[in-house]
Amino acid sequence: MKVVEEEARIRVMEGAWTPEGVMKEVVAGGQEDPFYVMDVGEVVARYQHWRDLMPRVEPFYAVKCNDDKVLVRVLAALGSNFDCASKGEIELVTSLGVSPDRIIFANPAKMSSHIRYASAVGVDTMTFDSETELMKIKQIMPHAKLVIRIRCDAADAQCPLGIKFGCDPVSEAPRLLKLAAVLGLDVVGVSFHVGSGAQDSSVYARAIEYCHALFSLGACVGHAGMALLDLGGGFPGNSGTSIVDASKVINEALARFFPDPSVRVIAEPGRYFAAAAYTLATMVHSKREVVNKEDPEHETHTMYFVNDGVYGSFNCILYDHQTVYTHPLYPSSEKQVPCSVWGPTCDGLDCVLPAARLPALALGEWLVWRDMGAYTLPVASPFNGYPVPSVRYVMADKLRPLLKELSPLLEAPWAASPPPSPPSERADVLAPPRAVFVECAIK
Ligand SMILES: Cc1ncc(COP(=O)(O)O)c(C=O)c1O
Repeated sequence: MKVVEEEARIRVMEGAWTPEGVMKEVVAGGQEDPFYVMDVGEVVARYQHWRDLMPRVEPFYAVKCNDDKVLVRVLAALGSNFDCASKGEIELVTSLGVSPDRIIFANPAKMSSHIRYASAVGVDTMTFDSETELMKIKQIMPHAKLVIRIRCDAADAQCPLGIKFGCDPVSEAPRLLKLAAVLGLDVVGVSFHVGSGAQDSSVYARAIEYCHALFSLGACVGHAGMALLDLGGGFPGNSGTSIVDASKVINEALARFFPDPSVRVIAEPGRYFAAAAYTLATMVHSKREVVNKEDPEHETHTMYFVNDGVYGSFNCILYDHQTVYTHPLYPSSEKQVPCSVWGPTCDGLDCVLPAARLPALALGEWLVWRDMGAYTLPVASPFNGYPVPSVRYVMADKLRPLLKELSPLLEAPWAASPPPSPPSERADVLAPPRAVFVECAIK
C-alpha cells in the first residue's frame, strides 16, 4: 500500500472509547476549528453485517458519498469494490492500490475524456441509459462491458435519482438492448438505483423483476453473456436505521428471479457505509439573544453561531435533504430552551437548525453531530475563509488482524485516557464575556 508522507494516521485505542471521549481530548488540547471523529470500527461492523445479511451481493462502495481516502482504504482492505462516477474518482481509488477490475464506472452520462481515461487504465465495466451514450462508447471504447441502467423509483426517497438517470424498463430498455447488439457492443448486465435514502424496501423486488425480464430479452437479441445484476444504492446509513428489511426483500427476489448462482450480483451502497462512521464537533464562537415573537412562553431566543455551516459539512441539509441533530459535548442538566444554530459565514442562508432546544451554551462550548459521514465532506467548501473540518481517525486495537493492509497508517497504540474534566473546571473554555453598559446622555 502506498503511503503519502503527510497522510492521515489512524489512532489505535487499546480500551473502550467513544467519539465524544476523543472529542473531549481534542478540545482540551486547544482545538478551535470544527473536526470529525471517524470510527473505523463502524465501517468494519457494517461491512460484516452486509455480508452476513446478503452473502450473494458484493458491495461496490459509491465513492461520491464520501471520498475520504481512509474510508476508501478501509473498505478496500475489507474486500469491498468501488462505484466511481468520474475520472477523478477512478484516479483516487486506483491511486490507493485498487485494481481496475474492482471498479464499475457507474455514471450513465460520462464525459468522453473520462471514458478514454477509464479505457486507458482498464476500467471496463460502465453503465449507459441512452442511445447517444451507446454511440459515444462505440466510438471511444467499443470493447467496454456495458450495463444498462433502468429506472425504478422508491415511492419515497431522500434524494430521488430517477428524474435524471435510468431508461424506462418497458418502453426504452428493449430498444436500447437491440441497438447495442446491432452496434456490436457487449451488454453484460442491468443496473438500477431506487433513489438515495429510499424509504420503501419493496422497490428492490420490483426492480429485480424488471431486470429478470431484461436478461431474458437481452439473451434473445444477442447479448448471450448477460451475467451482472447491479442493485445500486439507496440503503439507509444513520445510526438506528437498518438494512434488514431491504436484505429480506432482495434475498427473496434473487432466489425467485435469479436462482442461477453464475449471475454476479453487486450493489453500490454509499450512505450505508459512510453516514454513521463520522461524528462532527463544532464550537459555539458567538451568540445573540433576540426577542422571541413566536413563543409566548419564552421571551428570548438564543442564536448560536458555530464554526461549520451549510457551506461546509451542513451542505447536506441543502443538497442531501438531511435532517441534522445535535447535543452538547458536555451534557448539562439545565433546562432546554428555544434556540437556533447558525453557520459561520456572512450569508443569511447559512442556518443549520432554525428551531432547536438546547441547554444554555457558553461561548467555547462544543456541539456534537452524529451521522455526518454521507454527502458532507466531499461537497464542503471553504467559503468565506472557514476551513473544511479535519478528520481524526480512530479504531480499536482488536481490528488490527482484520485490517493488516492499513498498518502503515496506524499510530502506536494509545490507552483510552479518562475524559478531561467538564468545561466549568477548564480554563480553555472562553469565559462568558461580561456585559458592559454604557450610559449615553442624549442632550
Ligand atoms: C449510481 C449511483 N450509485 C450509488 C449511489 C449511492 O447511493 P446511496 O448513498 O443511496 O447508497 C449513488 C448516489 O447518488 C449513485 O448515483
